[in-house]
Amino acid sequence: MSWLDTHATTALEAWRDQGLERTPAVFASAQDPVATIDGAERVLFSSSNYLGLSTDQHVVAAARGALERYGAGSGGSRLTTGTTAEHRLVEEAFARFLGYPDAVFFSSGFHANTAVLHTLAGPDLTIFSDERNHASIIDGCRLAKQAGAATKVYRHRDPAHLAELLDQHAAANTGARALVVSDGLFSMDGTLAPLPELTEVCRAYGVALMVDDAHGTGTLGATGRGIVEHFGLQDTPPDILVATASKALGAEGGAVATTRHVADMLRQQARPYVYSTSTSAANCAAVRAAIEVLERTAHSDDGPVRALHRNVARLACALGYTEWPSPIIPIWIGDEAEAMAAAAALREAGFFVPAIRYPTVPRGKAMLRVTVMATHTIGQIEALVEALERR
Ligand SMILES: Cc1ncc(COP(=O)(O)O)c(C=O)c1O
Repeated sequence: MSWLDTHATTALEAWRDQGLERTPAVFASAQDPVATIDGAERVLFSSSNYLGLSTDQHVVAAARGALERYGAGSGGSRLTTGTTAEHRLVEEAFARFLGYPDAVFFSSGFHANTAVLHTLAGPDLTIFSDERNHASIIDGCRLAKQAGAATKVYRHRDPAHLAELLDQHAAANTGARALVVSDGLFSMDGTLAPLPELTEVCRAYGVALMVDDAHGTGTLGATGRGIVEHFGLQDTPPDILVATASKALGAEGGAVATTRHVADMLRQQARPYVYSTSTSAANCAAVRAAIEVLERTAHSDDGPVRALHRNVARLACALGYTEWPSPIIPIWIGDEAEAMAAAAALREAGFFVPAIRYPTVPRGKAMLRVTVMATHTIGQIEALVEALERR
């Protein structure tokens, strides 16, 4: 065996010994409420296609039209041959939808987060990061460190601890740059960042705020504009808002909504923008169509955002939560093996709800992560609740 194979075998054995090996479920259908998963039909309660837009007729038609016009691939990075009219239009759509002067579209939310943190980094920057931020923010902080930036981690959803750290920082580093970064909607347990308090702390200390609203885009706020709309903070939005197209918008990509100056800097210097082939025009067209669906249905009771909010209220209430804010509903179990057994029992009963365990969540905090879609029927929601009660 080459050293590569020896290394891989040893690493995998250690991984298995810790009970960490995972096998992906294989889908032979779209992310609809009833999906074909590993060869069987199951009711899907774990997709991020929260609004059902992945198969929306306008979204699919827009993608098909762009696919026929531009072909499958973009043929280059954004600064070479990979910018089409669709790339420009989707950035305009994000800026308009989110209420920012400009937006830069990356091929994933992961790219967007790492790009912002790395591009802004320098020896005079300190990043203040929530301890449960997404892996893409953690990796962004690691990249920022290579460029000389420091990272300080504040306790999860704890603005008072953040203020303490900012106090210490201000005392020791007059004039140095500081950036606070938080997930908007925490993707594993479905809770929200305390955005009003974070905004207040950032204003008081004169530091910049970046929010990753990956799961909030399309799901939070009366018209799906995300966490800023949810808290009514349109007059004091975060300096940088990352929105993904890969969850509620039903396609792929991550947009950084911000000022024109910051957007221009990212377009020149963000490495995933400059050195990676851009996402396809078909994807951009799908994302723009998804945004247009939300804009068109903003005040309609039949629109997907209101349908999602109704379904969240139904399921959360049946599971004993009052006023649950998001379509990610955790069912805490604790023990890893027990969580795996619960997921297997639900699969037997015809539902697909994954167990989430270490290293995605801390050890001993395993859970079932249920996600709701606008397209679930009341019958499907009631059947899941019954299956959970029987478990
Ligand atoms: C909070 C959060 N941020 C960023 C991302 C990355 O987004 P994408 O899947 O578009 O790369 C995810 C996706 O898993 C996420 O949950």
